[in-house]
Amino acid sequence: MTTEQRADWLQLQEITAVFDGFKALDIRHLGVDRGELRTVIGPNGAGKTTMCDVISGKTRPTSGKVFIGDQDVTGWADSAIAALGVGRKFQTPSVFDSLTVYENMELALPGRRGVFTNIFRRESTEERDRIDALLNRVHLISRRDQPARDLSHGQRQWLEISMLMVSGAKLLLVDEPAAGLTDHETALTADLLLELKGEHTLIVIEHDMEFVRRLGGKVTVLCEGKVLAEGSLDQVSADERVRTAYLGRAGERSA
Ligand SMILES: Nc1ncnc2c1ncn2[C@@H]1O[C@H](COP(=O)(O)OP(=O)(O)OP(=O)(O)O)[C@@H](O)[C@H]1O
Ligand SMILES: [Mg+2]
Repeated sequence: MTTEQRADWLQLQEITAVFDGFKALDIRHLGVDRGELRTVIGPNGAGKTTMCDVISGKTRPTSGKVFIGDQDVTGWADSAIAALGVGRKFQTPSVFDSLTVYENMELALPGRRGVFTNIFRRESTEERDRIDALLNRVHLISRRDQPARDLSHGQRQWLEISMLMVSGAKLLLVDEPAAGLTDHETALTADLLLELKGEHTLIVIEHDMEFVRRLGGKVTVLCEGKVLAEGSLDQVSADERVRTAYLGRAGERSA
């Protein structure tokens, strides 16, 4: 093992994901440090969501290995990977509309996924304080007892990120959190994710370059399932292959 590999907390090694003969993912090596906020960018269909599917166990890789911490989690069920502390925020928010903001948070508490535990277990004062502290942090405390359906799109995104936090997830996979948000909401979302790094390891997929710039940190560029470039946003933007990949796609679209 090289020194570089040992430093990584999350590792994908020689990962492929093949669907009906189509190689959606072909990653030789991708490593993320503990507490890092890594942004993943790339054109539509580059394999970004598939990469999260492989890490979370939703999709079993066709070949290769996934390591989280010291664990080889390759082939583990998604529930087992979630229990290890991997949480996911999908492209569209998945909160329960009819439940209040607080009730959604309650459901996200560790061990709350079973129907019976939800009915019979009451949260402790400590858990209640933790939820309220989180709601305060994401500016949702005034909405605490309102149904989630009354939230704006941005507020729903923050609720979902808070649900990941209360669930105790160590690794957060966040797919396009800024899609459909106003500039102000986008800025707040970036600030929230920045607050989370260190305490959590984050992989954030995003198309909005202003948002990516605000997040700072290391960027991985995926293209046709492969890691095309890695570095700061300025470094990868200056990379000729990255420019060609994006320009190529733009050309296809306008053709
Ligand atoms: N379960 C699946 N079965 C068949 N093909 C799939 C499956 N999942 C993903 N793909 C294909 O893999 C490729 C990568 O898709 P993916 O959703 O990972 O891209 P993406 O980078 O997340 O794109 P976007 O920016 O549009 O969200 C696409 O061509 C997609 O059609
Ligand atoms: Mg996607």
